[in-house]
Amino acid sequence: MPLRSRIAGTGMSVGNRVVTNADLTQWMDTSEEWIEQRTGIKERRWIDETQRPSTLAAEATYQALEQAGLEVGDIDCILLATLSGEHDFPGTSFFLHEEIEAGDIPCIDLRAQCSGFLYALQMGDALIRTGTHRRVLVVGAEVHSTGLDVSTEGRDVTVIFGDGAGATLLEAIDVDDDGPGVLEVRCHAAGKHARRLWTEGPSSARMPRIDEKMLEEKKHFPHMEGRFVFKHAVTRMPEVLLETLGAASLKLQDVDLFLFHQANLRINEAVAQRLEIPKEKVRNNIQRLGNCSAGALPILLAEASREGSLQPGQLVSLTAFGSGFTWASAVLRWG
Ligand code: COA
Repeated sequence: MPLRSRIAGTGMSVGNRVVTNADLTQWMDTSEEWIEQRTGIKERRWIDETQRPSTLAAEATYQALEQAGLEVGDIDCILLATLSGEHDFPGTSFFLHEEIEAGDIPCIDLRAQCSGFLYALQMGDALIRTGTHRRVLVVGAEVHSTGLDVSTEGRDVTVIFGDGAGATLLEAIDVDDDGPGVLEVRCHAAGKHARRLWTEGPSSARMPRIDEKMLEEKKHFPHMEGRFVFKHAVTRMPEVLLETLGAASLKLQDVDLFLFHQANLRINEAVAQRLEIPKEKVRNNIQRLGNCSAGALPILLAEASREGSLQPGQLVSLTAFGSGFTWASAVLRWG
């Protein structure tokens, strides 16, 4: 019998510090109203000195294992998506591996920025469908706060980011057409726009990788052409969402819950409006958590499953857009 993957457990963890819009006004020339009106964000969570990307990821992992009724020893492989590596090398997945004492199973970091979780989901699903592994931990983990310009110069980027990780435990099951599981995942990229949302340094393409001049020019902070990103996001997200549903022979009306990447509430409102998706079918948490990049979608999924707003048999559509550019969508049947 062919195999399919289902999400057996979810978990999440966010930074311990609540950073409100009012807090940001102390460091930069901005206003609570500007941030909330343009982005929908009221507060975000940033890590404190006791937290690291891998400890956020570990906490989310333990919750996912508990929900699945499994133990660390049951995991066959770890895929971790992040744009904010804990160190230059090795990847954050290795520090998660250490944190949860994962024996000698393989682990892989995947870099597809805000679409990273869906890229990792597609790969985890493929590893299961091919019979390579039976249980794959798929994590999105991000710590932005330690790399943001909190002065007025960085205000366009800094106000949107939060720290958080989400984990899902993928498990092999036999294919049953109406049964639960990941039905389709579609991923895309446009590297020609890589420099429109990026952090230039440190860079292995230059010697030294970072110097005083680059620090002065703030090249170690993320830079974004906000409007350009916005325009592409509201076009690409509906496109890939419909492509993915079509590939699964599903219609928009079949979907019970839509989860969008949490970059800007206005982007998600525009996407929902374009597709005529009713508000009650969309779940957002950016108001509380900001943009946790690769962590955003698995955190949303974990919140929805913990609150009981996901019933077995329901169809969930997940869609993201991010730096790279990358964009991706998945549809799965919960259960
Ligand atoms: N507070 C106050 N003013 C701000 C500000 C802030 N935090 N950030 C930018 N501004 C100012 C700008 O300096 C500019 O001022 P000017 O007109 O005097 O030059 C003005 O607001 C408009 O700037 P702009 O960047 O055009 O704003 P915007 O309406 O496009 O909103 C974003 C900025 C970041 C909210 C918006 O572009 C966005 O959400 N883009 C997509 C973000 C995204 O999806 N990122 C992907 C992450 S995965």
